[in-house]
Amino acid sequence: MSYSIAIDGPAGAGKSTIAKKIAKQLGFIYVDTGAMYRAMALHILRKGIPAEDGPAISKACEDADITIQYENGEQVVLLNGENVNGQIRTEEVGNMASASSVNGDVRKKLVSLQQKLAETKDVIMDGRDIGTCVLPRADVKVYLTASSEVRARRRYDELTAKGVSCDFDRIEKDIIERDERDMNREISPLKQAEDAVLLDSSDLSIEEVVAEIIAMTKKNVGMNRL
Ligand code: DC
Repeated sequence: MSYSIAIDGPAGAGKSTIAKKIAKQLGFIYVDTGAMYRAMALHILRKGIPAEDGPAISKACEDADITIQYENGEQVVLLNGENVNGQIRTEEVGNMASASSVNGDVRKKLVSLQQKLAETKDVIMDGRDIGTCVLPRADVKVYLTASSEVRARRRYDELTAKGVSCDFDRIEKDIIERDERDMNREISPLKQAEDAVLLDSSDLSIEEVVAEIIAMTKKNVGMNRL
C-alpha cells in the first residue's frame, strides 16, 4: 500500500520548496505536476500555437509524449525524450501553462500520468487539482496559500538573486491574473478540497510549514511506517 500527500495552492505559495523538503525527510517521491503542464506549454509554444486556439492545443497533445524520471532524487521532465527542465521555468512558459491547462485534453493526458505515478509509490504531489481531482483519496491534503504581495515578493527576490532585472508590480499583476485563471476555469479549478487543511504561509517560515505537514502525516498514516 502506498501513501500520498496532496498539496494545492496558488503560484508562489512555496509548494515545491516545501514538498521537496518533506519528500526528503519522509522518503517519498516528489511529483511536481506544474512542471508537466509547463512541458506541454513549451511544446505548444514551439509549435507557435496561440493560447486561445483550443482545437490546435488538443491536437498538439497527440504528439507530445511527456514522461518524468528521477536523477539523483530530482524530477526530470522529458518532452518527446528531451530533458526540458532548463527551459520550462520562464514567465512565458508559466503563463502558457496556465492558459493551456484549461484544455480538457491536456488535463486528461497529464492527470492519468500523475495517477499512475501514485499507484505504486509513496508520493507528495503538488499542483492545483491534486486533492480535488488527481488524488481524491490522498492521506493528507493541504491547501497552501499566502497573500499575493508575499508571493510576488518571494518571486522578485528569487529573480533578483539570479541577477534577472524585474518589476515588482508587474510580477504581482501576473500572479493575480494567473490565480484568476486557475481558480475560475471550467475543468478542475484551483480550490481547497473539503477535507484539506488550510495553511497560510505569509507569516510562517519554510521550516514551520514543513514541520506542520510532517506532523499531520505522521498522525494520519501512523508513526510506525514513517
Ligand atoms: O505550479 P506551476 O506554476 O509550475 O504551474 C504552472 C501552471 O500549470 C499553473 O498556472 C496552472 C497549471 N497547473 C494545473 O492546471 N494543474 C496542476 N496540477 C499544476 C499546474
